[in-house]
Amino acid sequence: MSAPMSDEFAPFDRAWLNTAHQGPMPLTAAAAGREAIEAKLDPRRMSDEAFFQVPAALRSSLGELVGAGGDEIVLGNSTSYGLNLLAHGLPLRDGDEVLLVDGDFPATIYPWLPLQRRGVRLRTVPAPSGALEPEDLDSALTDRTRVVCTSWVFSFTGHAAEVADLVDVCRQRENITFVLNGSQAVGARPADVYDLGVDALVSCGFKWLCGPYATGFAWLRPALMRRMEYEQGYWLAQVGEIANPPGHYALRQDLGAAAYDVFCTANLSVFPSWHRAVSLLLERGIHEVQRHDQALIDQLITGLPEGWVLRSPAAGARRSTLVLLEPEPPDTVARALRRLDVAGVDAAERAGKLRLSPHVHNTPADIERALAALAA
Ligand SMILES: Cc1ncc(COP(=O)(O)O)c(C=O)c1O
Repeated sequence: MSAPMSDEFAPFDRAWLNTAHQGPMPLTAAAAGREAIEAKLDPRRMSDEAFFQVPAALRSSLGELVGAGGDEIVLGNSTSYGLNLLAHGLPLRDGDEVLLVDGDFPATIYPWLPLQRRGVRLRTVPAPSGALEPEDLDSALTDRTRVVCTSWVFSFTGHAAEVADLVDVCRQRENITFVLNGSQAVGARPADVYDLGVDALVSCGFKWLCGPYATGFAWLRPALMRRMEYEQGYWLAQVGEIANPPGHYALRQDLGAAAYDVFCTANLSVFPSWHRAVSLLLERGIHEVQRHDQALIDQLITGLPEGWVLRSPAAGARRSTLVLLEPEPPDTVARALRRLDVAGVDAAERAGKLRLSPHVHNTPADIERALAALAA
């Protein structure tokens, strides 16, 4: 039997139930961060090879995480990096439509707004259930729809969209690119991009992937990559070594997704930590992580005391690792947050509701502590 996953994290004297905001970094990832700072104190310890090895290793682990080749992974610093890349790179013209979801997290919406200057129409589909529904998507699509972009798990409702069903709806039409924001899902559940059927998956790295802040990635289906109309010329992506000038200057065509990486791709003070965090999840196995997280969610939902109404799904495929609760009056979210704080539990208020989001660092004792504070 392997040690509990919580052993991989610094001992907490409080219960951090807010991974949907920031995931804690595992100890091995923090050690990599310290090593990076030490190396920067004495730059002789920063090897030239690291500039190439760090992104290559991270790319390959992220590929493994989403069931794709490393050469299909764009390294970024956020969700927004991948979405802005797509918004500016996709061949969208005057009159084309991008469909977004009402109430989606702003990071999923804003990247598309600049396209309005080129005459691209942005429309939002209502999501009264808490996530985009296949029927609502179907009735919103028109023959001008070129992009559908939605979160997988919705930050403000905790509902998980049924991605494969949404993709099916789009596949009944032509020329629709399906872009999925997996920031609240990747790292907490299996996310095989080819099973999901999406065209692009973007995610941050600092929530369920337990990386430092300023991490993220995008996966682009190779056929989509070939349609991108944006090119960048970043010297470190183009050269194979840093000691000599290239013999000639021409954009390489063999880079795959790396051609779109965020600049300073090696990001020597951040990416090694993130790589260790992702490797840890891979070693444990993402199915095991999901089982662990969902057991905590079961405990939370089944133990919910009187006076609380569950607003996120109670069971099934739509349930995520984000639990949204509403108190019955006279209790309020603000009062409950104070009680939780006094009991040593950190949670969040989102869209007027209490949001609890446990992950691998949490134990059943953390959930018991939260339930006791909610009952008070
Ligand atoms: C669904 C979703 N997408 C994206 C983000 C973050 O976006 P970014 O990585 O661009 O800061 C969050 C939360 O902060 C989120 O909940």
